[in-house]
Amino acid sequence: MSPRRITVGAARELPCTLVVCRGCCCGNRRKHPGTDHAGQVDRLRAAAAEHGFRVRTTDCLGPCDQANVIVVTPSAAGRRAGGRATWIGFAMDEDCTQDLVRWAAAGGPGVAEPPVTLALQFVRAPRGTRTRSRR
Ligand code: FES
Repeated sequence: MSPRRITVGAARELPCTLVVCRGCCCGNRRKHPGTDHAGQVDRLRAAAAEHGFRVRTTDCLGPCDQANVIVVTPSAAGRRAGGRATWIGFAMDEDCTQDLVRWAAAGGPGVAEPPVTLALQFVRAPRGTRTRSRR
């Protein structure tokens, strides 16, 4: 008999969440001067408020050579449908930000297919890494 997972309370309704790395390299204006890092987070938060997904920031997730890193975590429904956290690397331009908004607004992993151009930026999650939010 396989174990059965039961989700109760708020976890049942958790929306898709964008975990935005803002550690030593991601969001660092000196290392990546061509990007409006604060503006990117503001834009994601505004879209989250409009479309019902969440945005959190976190300390360094590990793959600094692929900054800016953003992890798209599935909603509860997406996880039940088989969606898993998806790591996006080099998330610095407007097109990528727009693709992230589009995917999260559509439901994210397990619910909606990612934009094709965003899928080109999928990166492998470091082994043993878990996302931690700080804001
Ligand atoms: S600062 Fe983002 S992966 Fe290290």
